Amino acid sequence: KISACIFDLDGVVVDTAKYHYIAWKSIANELGFDFTEEDNERLKGVSRMTSLDILLSIGGVELDQETKLALADKKNKNYLEYILRMTPDEILPGVKEFITVLRSNGVKIALGSASKNAMTILNQLELTDYFDVVVDGTHVSNAKPDPEVFLKGAELLKVAPSECVVFEDAEAGVEAAINGKMKCVGIGSPDVLGKANIVVPGFVGFSMSQLNF
Ligand code: G6P
Ligand code: MG
Repeated sequence: KISACIFDLDGVVVDTAKYHYIAWKSIANELGFDFTEEDNERLKGVSRMTSLDILLSIGGVELDQETKLALADKKNKNYLEYILRMTPDEILPGVKEFITVLRSNGVKIALGSASKNAMTILNQLELTDYFDVVVDGTHVSNAKPDPEVFLKGAELLKVAPSECVVFEDAEAGVEAAINGKMKCVGIGSPDVLGKANIVVPGFVGFSMSQLNF
């Protein structure tokens, strides 16, 4: 029985990775090294401060905590400039329609994101009303692959983890779902998301009947 679906945000509902990339690249360039799109893959699903640590390790740069906090803040201000220009056109194809079908079938909907900007993004996309609960980076202390963000969602919805399906585009997110004893649909490539129950390229043509695993 499936009572709830929990959606990751970045990479599942909207492609924010391109904006994270621009903002992190500018920090890297400022520190004197390059940051490629391939490097950016490593930041998917990873918290802001961990993203910075990965970035700094790529550049071979070591900084004190105060400088790191200032850089993370600078990156976020730059990122927000892009986010605040987003419109509902940027919702990934099929996801809004799929959530509508789930809701009309009585399935509860949660957001489970590492992002501290999740509410801003949902507002920009005019999607806030599609979610019964939102759990984001401002509510959790343990990052994916820790299942905290998804377990909190299930708890708020009063649904058992075994009755939840998580939708994730990042390996750490798939692992978080498994660690929370939840089912998982990978959105992206089977090479990266192979541990999910099923992996699909996106929501176009995806139907509720495919959740029977
Ligand atoms: C998502 C993205 C990550 C990002 C993290 C924190 O998980 O996939 O790339 O680092 O959220 O986002 P924030 O908006 O709080 O910087
Ligand atoms: Mg993601």
